[in-house]
Amino acid sequence: MTDRRLITALDLPTTNDAEALVETLGEACAHYKIGLQLLPIGGMDLARSLKARGHDVFLDFKLHDSPATVEKATRSITQAGADLLTVHAEPPVMRAAVEGREGSDLRILGVTVLTAYDDPMLTQMGYAYGARDLVMRRVDQALDCGLDGVVASPQEAEAIRARVPDDFLIVTPGVRPAGAALGDQVRVATPEAALKAGASHLVIGRPISQADDPFAAAQAIADEMAKA
Ligand code: C5P
Repeated sequence: MTDRRLITALDLPTTNDAEALVETLGEACAHYKIGLQLLPIGGMDLARSLKARGHDVFLDFKLHDSPATVEKATRSITQAGADLLTVHAEPPVMRAAVEGREGSDLRILGVTVLTAYDDPMLTQMGYAYGARDLVMRRVDQALDCGLDGVVASPQEAEAIRARVPDDFLIVTPGVRPAGAALGDQVRVATPEAALKAGASHLVIGRPISQADDPFAAAQAIADEMAKA
């Protein structure tokens, strides 16, 4: 059985490239993330097509707009039948997304603090909290707003898991098998460490898509996850 806790990020230039990777991965992966790179060039059709073939689909669109717009956008997005959607973890935005998904199986994840931001950047932007405190505050707000989970760094997963119910999703990018190139990821953990810290799903992009043998790379990660 394919481990659907492994989400491969389709951060690729075209939907043809994405389809080719899905084909190559075969049974090694059944859960795919489509983000803003593919959204304007066929990403929604790709989502429908992946769903029609039995895959799970995570739409990482990070919605952030006025509540009425987020609600209507979320309602439109439910038509693709995807499983997960991200919105920024601000209470009015989160509540609007929860309204918009009503009647569908779409689960809403809050993006707490982008991993690209550090404490000095948050201060400069006018926030009164450092990254870790802001993440925890937003986790509590996500729970209050009825979200299904959050996206967070694996290094925050343990502290988040301690304050949320077992079925609350913690989806972590920044996962690197031992020895893999970090790329621009800074706060990383291995697949085993991320799961042990309480992550429910791992989002992995380049260690799979840029591997010489993507199938073998995904299979090795799935094997490590099975042991965690
Ligand atoms: O680094 P990798 O290719 O595994 O990226 C997987 C996902 O991690 C990306 O689709 C993006 O959403 C997220 N990411 C991040 N911080 C970065 C780079 C990517 O959270 N610095």
